[in-house]
Amino acid sequence: MADETLQANARAAISGEAVAGAPADGRPATSLPSRVLAVANQKGGVGKTTTVINLAACLAELGRRILVVDLDPQCNATSGLGRAPAPGTSLYHALLGHGEALALIQPTAFKDLDLLPSELDLAGAEVDIARAEGYLHCFRNALRPIVEQGLYELILVDCPPSLGILTMNALAAADSVLIPMQCEYYALEGLSVMTRLTQRLRESGANPTLQIEGILMTMYDGRLRLGGDVVREVTRFFGDKVYDTIVPRNVRLSEAPSFGKPVVFYDNDSSGSRAYRLLAQEFLRRRGAACDAATAEELVAGKGAPATVASILAQGQPEG
Ligand SMILES: Nc1ncnc2c1ncn2[C@@H]1O[C@H](COP(=O)(O)OP(=O)(O)O)[C@@H](O)[C@H]1O
Ligand SMILES: [Mg+2]
Repeated sequence: MADETLQANARAAISGEAVAGAPADGRPATSLPSRVLAVANQKGGVGKTTTVINLAACLAELGRRILVVDLDPQCNATSGLGRAPAPGTSLYHALLGHGEALALIQPTAFKDLDLLPSELDLAGAEVDIARAEGYLHCFRNALRPIVEQGLYELILVDCPPSLGILTMNALAAADSVLIPMQCEYYALEGLSVMTRLTQRLRESGANPTLQIEGILMTMYDGRLRLGGDVVREVTRFFGDKVYDTIVPRNVRLSEAPSFGKPVVFYDNDSSGSRAYRLLAQEFLRRRGAACDAATAEELVAGKGAPATVASILAQGQPEG
């Protein structure tokens, strides 16, 4: 997209012009208010950030307006979307009620995809937030103006790899949580912690309507029997909460962040690109949005097609 369009989009998003009339690119503003999706798992290295960046990019590619909020002081979503973390650019002060979160939104080089970046100092916010009144709702309060203006169809929040205050704040602010998990043993344990926590947030009244959006199996290696076993096991417990799309282990997915790009802009034909495109389609379909079934079929039929839960279950339990 041309630079001027990018800048105009960002200005519209930041100033709120898009709410009053048509946004800079002429499409109507999204339906109000924005939905907030936390991508969380207390384990590190399970594919949270990779999923945030690439699901966001693939949804944006389908014409949805997406905001990524990087709530992890490691700033991986920020750098993975081509932005260098910089002091004073994160939600730190806004979380404590100082300053406007809207003004912190930055455009990325990718159409319909904006970023609210993180910075290393955000780690310090954990301490400050803990002392704030209503500490679980600092993020919800900071995000409210963005959510209420409905500038984005979806706000994807990348959480740190812990159940600290930032993750709890994300879960308290979210409409739903997407839990990525690696196809390995012990992953199930982590998953049950997340599902109990979701229930606890609902029951305690901290977030009475929090839903589990879905469970995404990541880093699947078709050569290892273990992966299939874990997929079967997780599906047995969580049924159709598990996305049919499985993200394969794909080196392109791990290379793309060092170029500051989602994988579809780095290697469009990789199995990682196919999987996240398929996931974006499934994500929308599950939400009842119309999406292009033909494209989904092409993605499944093409070379390097990702495995799906259905295909693994269809193989049945291997003997011995
Ligand atoms: N499907 C995948 N195939 C190969 N590498 C992956 C895949 N998903 C993530 N990675 C890599 O694994 C590491 C951890 O992933 P990341 O998304 O950062 O996890 P988290 O945010 O949960 O800590 C990163 O180096 C990332 O590039
Ligand atoms: Mg991460």
